[in-house]
Amino acid sequence: MDAAVIGVGMTKFGRELEKQLPELAAEAVELALEDAGVDRRDIGYVALANVGGWSAEFFPYPIAAEYAGLIPKGGMRIEAACASGSAALHAAVMAVTSGYTDLALAIGVERMNELTTPQVVELLGRGGNFFWEFENFGLTFPAYYALFATAYMQEYGATEEDLAKIAVKNHYYGSMNPKAQFQKKITVDDVLNSRYVAWPLKLYDCSPITDGAAAAIVASEKIASKFTDTPIWIKAQGAASGTANLTMRKSLLSLESAVEAAKQAYAKAGVENPVKEFDFALVHDCFTIAEILAYEDLGFAKRGEGYKLAREEQTYIGGVIPVNLDGGLKAKGHPIGASGLGMVHEAVKQLRQEVEKGRQAPIRRGQALIHNIGGTGHFAYVTVLSLEKP
Ligand code: COA
Repeated sequence: MDAAVIGVGMTKFGRELEKQLPELAAEAVELALEDAGVDRRDIGYVALANVGGWSAEFFPYPIAAEYAGLIPKGGMRIEAACASGSAALHAAVMAVTSGYTDLALAIGVERMNELTTPQVVELLGRGGNFFWEFENFGLTFPAYYALFATAYMQEYGATEEDLAKIAVKNHYYGSMNPKAQFQKKITVDDVLNSRYVAWPLKLYDCSPITDGAAAAIVASEKIASKFTDTPIWIKAQGAASGTANLTMRKSLLSLESAVEAAKQAYAKAGVENPVKEFDFALVHDCFTIAEILAYEDLGFAKRGEGYKLAREEQTYIGGVIPVNLDGGLKAKGHPIGASGLGMVHEAVKQLRQEVEKGRQAPIRRGQALIHNIGGTGHFAYVTVLSLEKP
């Protein structure tokens, strides 16, 4: 049994403290139901992605489900760090492909700005091995990715300017996305002159702290075409995990879990040459170096050459493969439990050719790729979406 996304919705991402967590979730659900033309009473299963910790709601599922009018449907909260949104999509797809229900709903929601930056950075820092790496060495997430960046720069000769070019591209596309947290263009000099957070990563190399929600409705092949002429088929999903200990990693030049998830997804979807077979990709750019590692882990560039795609501006529309045309996590924002479903929202809108002029990818092959990482590769999900039924 195959499954397709038939409706998506998302709030604006940003600092949105006027809305409570259940209100954010309900807004995204309402937009997704409207987009799909689905009655909430027909939803058979709900997966809610949320990491929380910073939120008053310690057990957010009941209140979010009730507020969105989803009671008495069965469901659960899903946590896979920054990949929680893709994990919720995975659960919704499994609910449909297993035959449990014909209609499932995946929601991602986060309200991170309830706490201050140092508090959020501290909580995020616990995403790896708390006792060893966080408590003993104080490794925060900017610091983890700074280790990846320094290893990469040392090994391959990439520069801070190369990293900056990722931020410039993603802010450029974010400037055209009304749902993005940052809608302003920046220059390489703006990035280079921004303050250091963890050398060599500066303010503009980092994704921000974000509130927001996104949702997707997944339908079985039996009923998908009753709701829409353009179901977006889930052609393949790859899921992998990695050791919590950075010291156990073979290398800091790649996320092994991402390589594994891509291998699974490409095998299922029959992908041999990704840059030729996808119209665009959404990759997990929580820090600029993460986007460069993704180019290599996904096979867009040979090992050690991902930074050249950035340097030569090959991931803009018109280049080898357009990446993060919604502004990425960098400019669109990174409400961590909602980010994966924010990517699904973008991929569906792009494949249907419904996004703003200037950031719409030409759709020739009808196929798109999503790469969503949790932690520093503790989780990896790679999803292939297609206009064509598998
Ligand atoms: N990119 C661009 N601008 C940013 C930004 C970012 N990541 N974060 C904040 N800003 C802007 C704010 O809008 C604000 O602008 P204004 O003065 O014009 O209003 C200014 O910079 C200061 O914002 P502030 O909230 O005080 O920044 P901060 O120092 O508290 O936080 C970081 C900055 C980088 C430390 C924080 O965003 C962070 O920790 N990011 C990483 C989050 C993370 O690790 N996520 C998980 C990844 S796996």
